[in-house]
Amino acid sequence: MTYYVTTPIYYVNARPHLGHAYTTIVNDVLTRFNRLMGRDCRFLTGTDEHGDKIVRAAEKEGRTPQSYADEISGLFRATWPNLSISNDDFIRTTEERHKIVVARFMELVDQRGDLYFGEYGGHYCFGCERFYTEKELIDGLCPDHKAKPEYIAEKNYFFRMSNYQDWLIDHIKKNPDFIRPERYRNEVLGFLRDPLEDLCVTRPKTRLTWGIDVPFDDKFVVYVWFDALINYISALGWPDGELYRRYWPAAQHTIAKDILKPHAIFWPCMLQSAGLPLYRHLNVHGYWQIGLSKMSKSVGNVVEALTMADKYGSEAFRFFLARDMTFGLDSEFSEDRLVERFNSDLANDFGNLWQRSLAMLQKFGGGRVEPEGLAGAGQPDQAQWLQRERELVAGWIEAFEHVNPRAALALAWEQVGLLNRTIDSEAPWLLARDPAKKPRLAAVLARLVKGLALIGVLIQPAMPKTAEEMWRRLELDPQELTLDLDELARRLGHGRALTAGAPFFPRLEVDGLKPAKAPKASKARAEGEPEDQAGGAAPAADKAPPDGLVAIEDFRRLELRAVRILAAERLPKSDKLIKLRVSLGDSERTIVAGVGKAYAPEALVGRLAVIVANLAPAKLMGVESQGMVLAASDEGGLSLVTLDDPEAKPGLRIS
Ligand code: MSP
Repeated sequence: MTYYVTTPIYYVNARPHLGHAYTTIVNDVLTRFNRLMGRDCRFLTGTDEHGDKIVRAAEKEGRTPQSYADEISGLFRATWPNLSISNDDFIRTTEERHKIVVARFMELVDQRGDLYFGEYGGHYCFGCERFYTEKELIDGLCPDHKAKPEYIAEKNYFFRMSNYQDWLIDHIKKNPDFIRPERYRNEVLGFLRDPLEDLCVTRPKTRLTWGIDVPFDDKFVVYVWFDALINYISALGWPDGELYRRYWPAAQHTIAKDILKPHAIFWPCMLQSAGLPLYRHLNVHGYWQIGLSKMSKSVGNVVEALTMADKYGSEAFRFFLARDMTFGLDSEFSEDRLVERFNSDLANDFGNLWQRSLAMLQKFGGGRVEPEGLAGAGQPDQAQWLQRERELVAGWIEAFEHVNPRAALALAWEQVGLLNRTIDSEAPWLLARDPAKKPRLAAVLARLVKGLALIGVLIQPAMPKTAEEMWRRLELDPQELTLDLDELARRLGHGRALTAGAPFFPRLEVDGLKPAKAPKASKARAEGEPEDQAGGAAPAADKAPPDGLVAIEDFRRLELRAVRILAAERLPKSDKLIKLRVSLGDSERTIVAGVGKAYAPEALVGRLAVIVANLAPAKLMGVESQGMVLAASDEGGLSLVTLDDPEAKPGLRIS
């Protein structure tokens, strides 16, 4: 089975930003998924370098279009490896291999009788590089660029797109997944309810010379869309190339909705006219927005592609983009959200699972996974456990086949959650105390390690470096990932000892951003089980600090927050304990504090205090305390720790 996926070729008038990064990353994720499935894959991206837009951008900088295009195209090319993009080719429309194919394609369409010479007057938007009909304009402005188009009248060649309207409607109706998700299929069928106008496919050289010459009339260059769309086959060496024969039948284009019409209407009509088969699927996603506006250079709200990757790492950035956007719908980008997902999904759920599981394997299994444990012999729930693993893998495959990376990653995180809960419910530290429970302990440890190896595979399309490192630490060959669960179990029986290594995604504390959710308390910690016995997070640094000192990573795990005391009452039958209701700004909680000998409850209300916010909850005289209030004490008394500024906002993180 083959698979050919393409990104749009990006205009070289703007530097690579988060919008470009998203489409490219999603394509990379899909390609890596297909490679995992053992398919023969090809992944193409590139740059679109001709047209008015580029000439104008170059002029602004006092450059020739070619040198300007070279520079920006180079930026795209240099950006992708930093985001682990594994494209097989990078096409530029200024390359000879492309120009030849465009000329040849145009000749075919002409021979077919689908080109004619005519005059046209219309509203031309330079941003979109296309004419708009009166009806398409909104208040006389281009709907995308919100700019007034120029009225231009000139002679040009036209493509009889109208000839193909009925055929195209029929094709879309017969192939329900030709354009997906369905909302865009419906949108295209909606466009096609009105008569299609013929497409103006040239520009006179009197107005524009930065383009590919029309092969049969040297007074014209090819219109940029007619030039650009052909990249998808010129990069395969159409018409003779082996690559073309091998991959074109499996082509899928992934784009955002801004360029739906050229891809869903112009391109199929062009292919049909030239006698080529159509692509298989058009995958259409929504916009990343900032403050509800599309992120784009013209709006001026762009986040450059590498800024986020430099700050948070390309793995976390890829994960965030693929996990957060529902493919097909718009998404609001915010750095806060990225940090929140980083801390909750990566640092807390995934990072802690890894550290806890391997720490327990170390402590209770000598670092080794036992073959008997992997077999789970005698475990009444073993068959059920294996069945669930199989269903997980099937669901994950299904999600990717339907271009739904978000759902696929959500399934991987269901597995993370399940393993975290397994630790809590099985309590391996308790199993370890009872020799009769040894087989159960071995099975639980094996389930955790196998579960982690499987997570390594499930996240690989989105986070290839993390997956590779996980497999390496599990003493498995990262070049040989497998979704075959029996094979995975067999390989994990290698008998070599495993260690956790450094944490994968240490928690982020970013100034000025919303503090992240407090880590979930494990049952073991809640029960007061010492951290190391519970297999709690190992110290972050490989080197332990000198005796008596605390590593900075350990200190950072403490979440100290300012709170405002809203209410206070003594617990019955206690002269020391006071039940406090405190506000953290965006949430409230109950804390039991042992300050009753030093303070009357009413003296506490309204004051700022400092709490340890991520302490495991504990029951004190029947009341659950969700944190601990800090106070200084000696025999002489007790003094509440507070902030210098009595007006400080509750919720502030103390560091
Ligand atoms: N050159 C044309 C495409 C020709 S393809 C034969 C073009 N280039 S572009 O530089 O404007 O890129 C548009 C594409 O960039 C979108 O379709 C999408 O893939 C990506 N994105 C640009 N901004 C985006 C967002 N704000 N959000 C999501 N994707 C975005 O059009």
